[in-house]
Amino acid sequence: MLAGKRILLIIGGGIAAFKSLDLIRRLREHGATVTPVLTKSAEEFVTPLSASALAAQKVYRDLFDLTDEAEMGHIELSRAADLVVVAPATADLMAKMAGGLANDLASTLLLATDKRVLIAPAMNVRMWEHPATQRNLGVLKEDGVLVVGPDEGDMACGEYGPGRMSEPLAIVAAVEDALVNGPLKGHHIVVTSGPTHEPIDPVRYIANRSSGAQGTAIARALSALGAKVSFITGPADVAPPDGVGVIKVQTAAQMADAVEAALPADAAVFAAAVADWRVKTASDKKMKKDGKSLPKLDFAENPDILAGVAQRKKNRPQLVVGFAAETDDVEANATAKRKRKGCDWIVANDVRPETGIMGGTENAVTLITKDGADAWPRLSKDQVAAKLAAKIAEALS
Ligand code: CTP
Repeated sequence: MLAGKRILLIIGGGIAAFKSLDLIRRLREHGATVTPVLTKSAEEFVTPLSASALAAQKVYRDLFDLTDEAEMGHIELSRAADLVVVAPATADLMAKMAGGLANDLASTLLLATDKRVLIAPAMNVRMWEHPATQRNLGVLKEDGVLVVGPDEGDMACGEYGPGRMSEPLAIVAAVEDALVNGPLKGHHIVVTSGPTHEPIDPVRYIANRSSGAQGTAIARALSALGAKVSFITGPADVAPPDGVGVIKVQTAAQMADAVEAALPADAAVFAAAVADWRVKTASDKKMKKDGKSLPKLDFAENPDILAGVAQRKKNRPQLVVGFAAETDDVEANATAKRKRKGCDWIVANDVRPETGIMGGTENAVTLITKDGADAWPRLSKDQVAAKLAAKIAEALS
C-alpha cells in the first residue's frame, strides 16, 4: 500500500519514542522508505543506532553536521519525502511548529518542508489539555497539519486521559490515508518522460540528453497526492518511481501508441523530450562502411503526441500540460508553443548548457497558462514536481 512512498520520520523526545522504532518497522513492512530524524531529547529514549538499523537508512540528528550538508542539505532533506511524520510530537515540538521556530534540525526541517506533515502527539494529559497546547493544535490544523491521536488511557506518568501516542499501526493507517487519499485520489494522470531513441539501424540510434529526472519526479509527486499515474517513459537514466504504472518505450511512435492506450485520463503531463524526427530509411541490418560513400539518412517527422492529445475532440484530458525546452526567448517561444499545440499549460525552461538543467538536479521553470507567465525560482526537480502536482490538484478539484 505504501510501495515507493518516502517518509521523513521526526522522532521527538518523549517516552513514546520507543514506539517509533516499531513504527519504522511497520512503515517498512507496508513498503515505505523511512528516513529517521532524532531530536536531541529523543536520543535520551532511543539510540540513533537502533533507529538507523531498523530503517536501514542514515539517521539525521544535527543541523550543523557538515557531512550531512555535503551529502544532502537540510532543505533538500525536508523535501525529498512524500510525507513528513512527527511521532511522537511532543508539546515542545508542537509549540515550535506553531510558532515557526527553526532552532534545531527537526524544527528547521518542519519549517522548510513543502510536503504535508502528519503529527502523532504524545504527552502528559495536563500538558495536552493545557490551553497553550490546544491553541497550538488549532494553529497547526489551520496550517493543514494532519493529526492522528492522541489516544486515551493509562499513561507512563501514572495519570489517565488523552495523551498516549497512537499505536504504530494506527499511525501507518493515517499515513496511508494521507498519501492514498490525497487531493488527487480517484484521478488518473498520464505522464510521459525521458528521451526517445529513434533507430538508424539495429545498433545505432538518434537520441537527446534528457535524463528523465523531471518527468520521474512529477510522476512521483502526483502519486504522492493520491493520483493513479500511467508513467510512459523512454530509455531514461533515472529509475522509474515505485507505485505507478510504468510503460517502457523506445521510440516516439511507441510512446504515441502507449499514450493512446492509457487514455482516458483526467490530466496528461508531457515531460518527455520526444525526438522530432525519426530515420525514415532505418535499416534492419547493421549498416557497414564501404570506404567510399557516406550513408544518407532520410528523416520523417514523428507524431506530435502533445498536440495530438491537446487537440482531440473525444477523450481529451481536462488538463493537458506540455513542456518547452528552449535555448532562447524562453517565455515568448513557450507562449507561442502553448497556442500552437493547443495545450492548457506549458512548463518552459531554459536548457542552454550553461544552465546545467538538462541532466542536472535543478530546474528553473516558467509556467505559461492562458493567464500569462509565472516564473518560479530555481528549485530542485523534486520541488518543481511538488509545486506542479499541487497546482494540478487545485486545477482538477
Ligand atoms: N512533444 C510530443 N511529441 C513530439 C514532440 C514534442 O509530445 N513529437 C511534446 C514534449 O513532450 C513537450 C512539448 O511537446 O511537452 C514540447 O516539445 P519541443 O520539442 O520542445 O517542441 P517542438 O514541437 O519540437 O517545437 P520546437 O522544435 O519549435 O522547439
